[in-house]
Formats: sequence, structure tokens, C-alpha cells
Amino acid sequence: MTDRLRIAIQKSGRLSDGSFELLKNCGLKISRGKDRLYGRVKEMPIDVMLLRDDDIPEFVADDACDIGIIGENVFEEALLVDGHDAPAERVMPLGFARCKLMIAGPKEWDYENANGLAGKRIATSYPGLTGAWLEREGVKARPVMMKGSVEVAPRLKVADAVCDIVSTGATLDANGLKPLATVFESEAVLIRNRNAFSSEKQAIFDALLKRIDGVITSRDAKYVMMNAPRAAIGAITEYLPGVDAPTVLDLAGQPDKVAIHAVCRESVFWGQLEELKKLGASAILVLPIEKMMA
Ligand code: PRP
Ligand code: ZN
Repeated sequence: MTDRLRIAIQKSGRLSDGSFELLKNCGLKISRGKDRLYGRVKEMPIDVMLLRDDDIPEFVADDACDIGIIGENVFEEALLVDGHDAPAERVMPLGFARCKLMIAGPKEWDYENANGLAGKRIATSYPGLTGAWLEREGVKARPVMMKGSVEVAPRLKVADAVCDIVSTGATLDANGLKPLATVFESEAVLIRNRNAFSSEKQAIFDALLKRIDGVITSRDAKYVMMNAPRAAIGAITEYLPGVDAPTVLDLAGQPDKVAIHAVCRESVFWGQLEELKKLGASAILVLPIEKMMA
């Protein structure tokens, strides 16, 4: 029997869609049964476990899963609370589910800096990260641990402020709170168990990593084509965002002009196309890139 790689991802919530999409773009088709804990991938020897995000660091650390996709906020908190000997480690950032862990307080609060939090009770599900930040700021405040619905704590008078995840800011707003300070900036990260994988498992992991890398680098990448005066090749190449070596082709019957084809590793904006026109480019085409492998 082949050794299968077990990936833990969030069952539902902020990270869930992005995680499924990343795996899908890596060519893994997962059947997403409603109350199922397991998803099997047909194309590769991979199993997907669907979990609550807070459980993922522990499942990966305990060897129940080999790798996992988790918010950096949850992972760092687990490291702080469970100790640095926890046998899970960060592999790479994944560039989605960006959010901030922020101190927030009542809208009418006149907050100037962290000193304003001295002696206050701060409700949070992140006592580790919150405590570390307060210590760095040199402020003595009291984190009050809450498992959920942190944002209602000030209204219920169980806390003066909160330290919670802010993505769009809608949750704070709906609860009469405003953001005051950023404690931690987060995005989805890939983590793995620290123990060595079997060579079979390591090979599956390496193949998956290459695909993830390809998906991430091609996410914003575009294939750009244009015609340009031969004299402008240098200026245009220098201007194009994230281009190493463009392909330059002769145009039949037009000795002064060339076609330039290039892979731009960053987003290409309208303003940049206008700039290219000014440099002499014409017939500019920007095409999406579906897959990329170095
Ligand atoms: C966070 C936080 C808020 C919400 C903020 O929860 O606790 O409920 O997201 O998002 P908004 O700024 O867009 O309104 P999270 O998704 O991390 O869920 P969990 O803590 O229940 O796992
Ligand atoms: Zn959670």
C-alpha cells in the first residue's frame, strides 16, 4: 500500500475557500461531503482532513496529519501557548486570507497610544500574541481569555477593549468598536510536522510543494505581448514589472519594429499600459497565465 500524505485544512470559515481553491489549482480534486471529516484525492496519494482551524496546529504537531493550511495568527498563538518545542513548523506563506489581529475599543474612546490600555481588561482568543505585544509595548493590561464572540465583551462590560481578528472590519463596526492598534499581521501559511517523512511521503510532499509554488507565482502573473520600436526595447524591458528576459521577435517587412513577449510576475495595471504606449508600444495584449513551473 502506498503511503498517503495527509493534509489538514479548515472545514468552513475564513480560510476554507482559499484552501480548497489552492488545492484545486494544484490539480487535486476533493469531494467535499457535508459532514465528512475526510476527503480523498484520486489523482495523487493524498487525503484531506477537514477540521476546525484551531485544531489544525495540534493535529499536525501530533502526527495525525502531515501538513496543514492555517492562519499564521492561529499557528503563532499555538506556538506561544504550547511552547516552542511543538513539533510543527512553517513551510511557506500562501498569500491569501490576509487579516490583522488588532486591539479595538469603543468608538467614542480617545485613544492615542498603547499607554491608554494600562490597567484595562482586553478580551481575546489570542492571549499569547496579545500578551507578547503588551509586553513589547511596556504596558500592563489584563488579557481576558474568551473562546468566541469576543466583540460583544465591551458591551457586556466584561472587558474594556478587545484584541481580535479584523478582516473587512464589519464585525467591529457592527459592535460599536473601532480598531486602535495592530498586534499581528497574518495570512494563510503551510505548516508541516517536524519529523522526517518516509521517502515515499517526502516525494509526494515535494511534488505538491512545486505545484503550490507554481500556483502562487502564477497567481498575479500575466503574459504580455506588444509591438514596439526596436530602439525602445531597453526602456520597455526595464519598465515591465517583474520581467527577467523578454522574447524579442522581428516583424515581417518592418525592420524598425519588433514584437516583445514577456511574462510579468506581478499584476499589470491600466496605468502601466498607458506608460508603455508613451514608450512607443502598440497593439498591447495582456493574457492570463494558467500554469507555471520553473
Ligand atoms: C474573525 C473575528 C471576527 C471576524 C472579523 O473570526 O473573530 O468574527 O473574523 O472579520 P471582519 O473584519 O471581516 O468582520 P475568524 O474568521 O478568525 O473565525 P474564528 O475565530 O471563529 O475561527
Ligand atoms: Zn477558529
